[in-house]
Amino acid sequence: SSNTLILGIETSCDDTGCAIISGQGKILSQSLYSQNLVHLRNGGIIPDIAQELHRAHIEPVVAETLNKAGVIMENLTAIAVTLEPGLPLSLAVGKKYAKHLARKFNKPIIPIHHMEAHALTPRMVHDIKFPYLVLLISGGHCLLAVVQDVKKFKLLGESIDCAPGEIFDKMARKMKLRNIPDYCKISGGEAIELAALKATNPDMFKLPLPLTDYKDCNFSFNGLKTSVFYHLYKKEKEHNIVAHELIPEINDLCAAALMAVTRHLIHRTQRAIEFCHLNKLIPENNKQLVVSGGVACNNHIFSCLSELCKEFDYRIFRPPPNLCTDNGIMIAWNGLEKLRKNLDIVTEIDSLDIKAD
Ligand code: KG4
Ligand code: ZN
Repeated sequence: SSNTLILGIETSCDDTGCAIISGQGKILSQSLYSQNLVHLRNGGIIPDIAQELHRAHIEPVVAETLNKAGVIMENLTAIAVTLEPGLPLSLAVGKKYAKHLARKFNKPIIPIHHMEAHALTPRMVHDIKFPYLVLLISGGHCLLAVVQDVKKFKLLGESIDCAPGEIFDKMARKMKLRNIPDYCKISGGEAIELAALKATNPDMFKLPLPLTDYKDCNFSFNGLKTSVFYHLYKKEKEHNIVAHELIPEINDLCAAALMAVTRHLIHRTQRAIEFCHLNKLIPENNKQLVVSGGVACNNHIFSCLSELCKEFDYRIFRPPPNLCTDNGIMIAWNGLEKLRKNLDIVTEIDSLDIKAD
């Protein structure tokens, strides 16, 4: 209805996110506390620390979101909260706080699957009709799926080891990119994208294309990471020097890594497009690819995917960067999509513990 208001809460990983959207999908306000800098300093996410930071920030982040929108808890229609997947300790903080608010103000909870939220959010800003193909690429996930409807997915493939953002982050750390002032406050993926732009001779590094013998839509990034580490180690030995002082070879290695990851993503996405065609999963007049997740911010990856789409007559969509990475808006939007279809509106708050399958 016209006065529908959804509060979204996201704490699945290292961002405490909150947002309020209207029944028309308009963003009234959002707040995001990112733990990124803390984890960069620690060389990775330590679950106990992530939980502690969520605990410290959940209340002020939610309060700030309400304040900025000029909305009081009493006026909310429902609270959407991420229940899975993610770091259990982190998820628990959002869930507990959402339950507390739901009980106190007698509001229903709409449980959200983090990946579904990534997959549906582009519908908030683009006119994208079901069914469509989605490629989700982030620090925690890598998958291809057909989004048939809200809560209705056909998984085509996923990573058999780690995620592309995760290997970018690990490579950036091993290369000590953070010691370069330009890169000290950005994610590993962004640092690698910027360094790659400065490359002059990326072809000097040979990196394998993973899973070429497998005729499915799965991904694997571990082998690429190992090859990059091997090349780095060789260069370090050769120069008798530590990684971040190696420039320009570091830039070339970043470019080689980015190109290899891109090639793999394109290879698997093409398989998915062909599979959808053969199995009539996407109608001819509905050929749409949505790319989301933090790694979708990468312009090289996106422009190569755009080329692929042109070839197969697909339209390509990606949400703006602030909607690609983790945030509260995508959770609120998924909540609204479920509310519109009357799905998963939980009023028996205690039953959430059973329902979170
Ligand atoms: O979706 P997200 O915020 O969190 C989850 O992992 O769920 O994605 C964060 C990941 C990090 O691994 C980061 O290095 C990567 O996305 N990333 C990028 C870029 N911006 C963020 N990777 C490549 N190029 C970028 N421009
Ligand atoms: Zn995510």
